[in-house]
Amino acid sequence: MKKIKKLEGEGNHYSVPKLYAINSIKKQTEDEYLLRFDVPLEHEPAQFIQVSLLGHGEAPISICSFQDEYFEMSIRAVGNLTRKLCALKKGDKVGLRGPYGKGYPMESLKGNNVLVIGGGCGVAPMRSAIQYLERHRSDFGDVALYFGYRNPKEVLFAEDFNKWKKTFRVHVTVDKAPKSWKGEVGLITELLQKDSFDNTNKVAFVCGPPVMIKFVIALLKERGFNDDQIFLSHERMMKCATGMCGHCMIEGVYTCKDGPVFRYDGVKDLHG
Ligand SMILES: Cc1cc2nc3c(=O)[nH]c(=O)nc-3n(C[C@H](O)[C@H](O)[C@H](O)COP(=O)(O)OP(=O)(O)OC[C@H]3O[C@@H](n4cnc5c(N)ncnc54)[C@H](O)[C@@H]3O)c2cc1C
Ligand code: FES
Repeated sequence: MKKIKKLEGEGNHYSVPKLYAINSIKKQTEDEYLLRFDVPLEHEPAQFIQVSLLGHGEAPISICSFQDEYFEMSIRAVGNLTRKLCALKKGDKVGLRGPYGKGYPMESLKGNNVLVIGGGCGVAPMRSAIQYLERHRSDFGDVALYFGYRNPKEVLFAEDFNKWKKTFRVHVTVDKAPKSWKGEVGLITELLQKDSFDNTNKVAFVCGPPVMIKFVIALLKERGFNDDQIFLSHERMMKCATGMCGHCMIEGVYTCKDGPVFRYDGVKDLHG
């Protein structure tokens, strides 16, 4: 099946959203919904799409899958637009343009052991990299996934864990849990501290809240990771998503076109 390179519609020199029907919408947690579009789209893991509803605005949302015939996005209902998007039904149309930005440079990382570290809804862009790793399993070494959530109700993509456990080492923890929770309780850094990983060719992908990123980076560096072996996803408010408006720029770095995935050595000054 031939994949399409861009989702946008016909327009002037600005990129214009094109309407696409939602092929399925599934509730994942109290606030998160998974939207699937049956469109064969060419993209890198963790690139993002500008999603819009006329009259309600536009927002960047990460692609959370890596498949040939469809793509998915996991949306957390936090504000005006995202609440409207999460209330839509199968067949409803939304405006899409993209994919934009730089995702994980998977091709150049082949041969490495990979640590995937995601916190909360930061697991969404990671899922795209994980599906890539599943499809190219023999090109990579040991793959370990570490996911941290605030509580069991917020565990995102739990339905994927059993499948991933067949191929990768999977570790899940929650900050707080009732007695019925059978898994780990504690911070994601505690999980990482307990694990031993091959210390040779290795890279780490990190996505989550800023405080998690800060402590995870400190720990990875203690464990022998160089700055150029750590990849981070950044979230900044965006407008054009194409490097024209400057809205997402911080200290000369455009999140929309230089990121949202950055190698740590290129953005370490932004992390204090
Ligand atoms: C590169 C990139 C990728 C992203 N990927 C995803 C994704 O895969 N899934 C997803 O759900 N979101 C993702 N986001 C965040 C998403 O774009 C915002 O949540 C969205 O713009 C909110 O729009 P809104 O109109 O619904 O909220 P608004 O009405 O603009 O905001 C309402 C309130 O919610 C707060 N708010 C906004 N965003 C967040 C947030 N992320 N978390 C907590 N509070 C927030 C605002 O500060 C405000 O107080 C991504 C952002 C970027 C930059
Ligand atoms: S969002 Fe306009 S330059 Fe990045």
